[in-house]
Amino acid sequence: MKKITFSSLLVFLLLGCGSDSAEKIDDNKSDPDPIAQDEPVKNDPIKVEKGKKLFLQHCATCHGTDAKGITGPSIVGVTHEDISEAIAGEADMTYMQGIVLDSEQKLIAIYLNELKNITAPLDGLDRQRANLGKKLFFDKNLSLNKTLSCASCHDPLHAFIDARFSTNPVDGSLSVGDDGTTLGGRNAPTVMYAKLAPAFFTMDDGTHVGGQFWDGRAKDLKEQAKGPFVDQAEMMMPSTGSVVSRVKENTLYIEELKALYGQDIFNDNDKAYDAIAGSIAKFEKTTEFAPFDSKFDRSKLPYFHVDHYEMSEQEKLGYRLFFDHSQTHCSKCHSVNSSTESTIETFSNFRYENIGVPKNLDALLARDGHTDKIDLGIGGRADINDSKHHGKFKVPTLRNVAVTAPYMSNGVFKELKTVIKYFDYMAGNGHTLNPETDQPWREAEVNATINYPILKTLKPLSDEKIEALESFLNILTDKRYESLLK
Ligand code: HEC
Ligand code: HEC
Ligand code: HEC
Repeated sequence: MKKITFSSLLVFLLLGCGSDSAEKIDDNKSDPDPIAQDEPVKNDPIKVEKGKKLFLQHCATCHGTDAKGITGPSIVGVTHEDISEAIAGEADMTYMQGIVLDSEQKLIAIYLNELKNITAPLDGLDRQRANLGKKLFFDKNLSLNKTLSCASCHDPLHAFIDARFSTNPVDGSLSVGDDGTTLGGRNAPTVMYAKLAPAFFTMDDGTHVGGQFWDGRAKDLKEQAKGPFVDQAEMMMPSTGSVVSRVKENTLYIEELKALYGQDIFNDNDKAYDAIAGSIAKFEKTTEFAPFDSKFDRSKLPYFHVDHYEMSEQEKLGYRLFFDHSQTHCSKCHSVNSSTESTIETFSNFRYENIGVPKNLDALLARDGHTDKIDLGIGGRADINDSKHHGKFKVPTLRNVAVTAPYMSNGVFKELKTVIKYFDYMAGNGHTLNPETDQPWREAEVNATINYPILKTLKPLSDEKIEALESFLNILTDKRYESLLK
């Protein structure tokens, strides 16, 4: 089971749990896993529900809504003791001391135990499904005119963004669909690290967290993957049935889908489509999409490690500024845990914010012939439709951001430095001109919901600090994309 750490021992001593620590030492000797040996326990459904709510509120950001682990480990089936130990001692969770009560931890444990009863163990099947998903991700045959695959707009050689710049009429701010002319609604985000976003959920206070797309309208990667095939600005297939038919043109796919999802998978169109999307999602969850090997990550390795990276003074300054709340507000939104830097940093809290981004007039004009349309973000979703959330978009991860220009949900900014100066302007510190146009920044697309209480807390950014922040963002580039840096 778990190793005994100094801090856990200390906690047991402090709490006076003599018998518990005695048990731990026994565990350590024979290494049994009492939970694994237990028959499934029937848990009180009311407690399970309460535990689930608490889990979603406090834990899902890191451990995933299915508790299988996103940035934290899988915690399916852990005990109350494991939880209190983690909160007392583990680097990422100590801030929960006093926030998550002992009685709440018990309820969460009941939920996690119930989850163990209903989740099947992982096996090599996932790997095989991911391999199939990879083929589907690169298959142009799955678009109407056979010109686009997922990889066309999410290029693995370019951090999985739409890198067809030479043929793009709007500088890459919007993507061109399968007919070669139709422009899509928003800037294509990277799929790198997309798996870190927890499945979409809403907290008791109405805060939305996680999900895929800039407005979170797809709950998770599987649901997301069902969208592009039949999106009439993307792969333009007329129906999910037609996508399944295209898949069936390849006998290898037929065999693999049957072997991996059941012989009867093609009897039901919805099930077949679900399996197609599911395998793509499995591919997107592989480490190919989350290597965590940027210079920033490598700087955390011990000095003697061959891959250790030593940050330059400028990068160190940017790093300090980024996480220092008395200087900048960046990590209030671009960090999974706003109070400290996490061990495995995601550079997003996966929440929805309006930072007052102006319209991209050129892109709107090219797409619609006019600039009237307003993108309401998550607040414009039919199922949310709430003016309180108008203009809010998912906080994007900043991993690989230096190679994923243009920026923002509408691609309105071309340079990283522009984005940093923009935040200084929004704080009211100066930088009143957009350096890309030499004109005043245009008015926000949606004004009423801009998060000024946070945006105004940014201390003025000198040129030196702007350079430092930019050089810090540069070292968030994964090793395989470092050659793309200017
Ligand atoms: C900010 C991210 C974050 C949040 C939120 C979080 N955890 Fe964790 N948790 C982690 C990380 C990272 C680890 C692994 C720490 C390590 O190994 O050093 C961890 C470890 C654990 C462990 C130990 C598991 C093991 O096998 O070692 C348990 C149990 C746990 N978390 C439960 C919870 C519960 C319950 C909650 C909600 C009350 C929660 N965590 C919230 C990040 C988080
Ligand atoms: C024509 C270009 C295009 C194609 C083809 C395309 N996408 Fe996208 N993708 C986009 C755009 C644009 C967005 C953002 C749309 C939005 O947020 O409303 C996006 C968003 C995403 C996201 C969400 C990332 C995040 O962080 O929220 C994922 C994941 C994704 N696409 C995967 C895929 C997969 C899988 C396929 C193939 C089935 C695919 N895309 C095909 C353009 C494309
Ligand atoms: C109030 C929350 C918040 C704060 C504070 C914040 N950001 Fe952001 N950031 C966002 C959101 C939301 C977006 C996307 C907005 C959109 O597209 O409409 C974004 C976009 C970005 C982008 C563009 C990413 C892309 O892929 O398009 C960069 C770069 C960025 N922020 C860096 C920073 C830096 C550096 C700081 C500190 C100076 C900072 N942010 C502070 C919420 C925030």
